[in-house]
Amino acid sequence: MAPEAAPLSSERPVVWLNCAASLDGRLAFAGGARARLSSPEDLARVHRLRAEVDAIVVGVGTVLLDDPSLRVRGELAGGLPRDPPTRIVLDSRGRTPPGAKVLDATAPTLVATTERARERFPPSVRTVVAGAERVEIPRLWAELRRLGLRRLLVEGGSAVLASVVRSGLFDRWTIYYAPFAIGGGTAPPVLAGPESRNFEEAVRLQLAGLERLGDGFLATFLPAR
Ligand SMILES: NC(=O)c1ccc[n+]([C@@H]2O[C@H](COP(=O)([O-])OP(=O)(O)OC[C@H]3O[C@@H](n4cnc5c(N)ncnc54)[C@H](OP(=O)(O)O)[C@@H]3O)[C@@H](O)[C@H]2O)c1
Repeated sequence: MAPEAAPLSSERPVVWLNCAASLDGRLAFAGGARARLSSPEDLARVHRLRAEVDAIVVGVGTVLLDDPSLRVRGELAGGLPRDPPTRIVLDSRGRTPPGAKVLDATAPTLVATTERARERFPPSVRTVVAGAERVEIPRLWAELRRLGLRRLLVEGGSAVLASVVRSGLFDRWTIYYAPFAIGGGTAPPVLAGPESRNFEEAVRLQLAGLERLGDGFLATFLPAR
């Protein structure tokens, strides 16, 4: 299933969230070390999804820890899209290292930053100011929509997923659960950010689908209306 593009009249793109977690809700190993939790079936699903969107969004924490290329792998997606999705990094202070794969000019890249960022990026990289101190999700989504991006896939990590989920400005969230338990205190959870002390502060979701995918399962949630 692919996201529908946001209607031309819409003020923000259609936003899908996707991540792979251990059964105990961790996105990576101790200290944030990358864990390839997706089964081959899930990896193929993710690349098909990437091929259907206009942009893939991650935080600078993921760039610093994982150095992902955020490209579509044609052999997994069943072909390459005509236009590769734009790689978007939320980076309030300009901490994306010059050698990061997302800056390699093999696909369009946009760094969402703030008024306080001083860092300069290569000319191939577009920068968008979307906040004073920290990138603000509502402002960024509006700006991306204005630039013509109508379908976003937010892939992580914990802090960015938390901000988007807390903003309520998303349409669908798929979590692939891998049959592993990671445990401990430093492996990043699916959501970082503010803690919930009760159900009023927790984010309510609606389960929209559940399916076995390789040796794990895929759960699809919608924001509760
Ligand atoms: N399993 C999966 O599906 C998956 C997918 C992706 C990542 N990961 C894992 O996630 C971990 C990284 O997560 P993370 O929480 O450290 O980093 P992150 O969410 O990738 O990035 C967080 C950083 O983004 C910047 N940022 C800018 N605006 C923000 C906003 N509005 N909300 C939140 N962050 C904003 C902040 O840095 P500034 O204040 O400097 O801007 C913040 O520290 C890694 O271990 C990686 O392996 C797993």
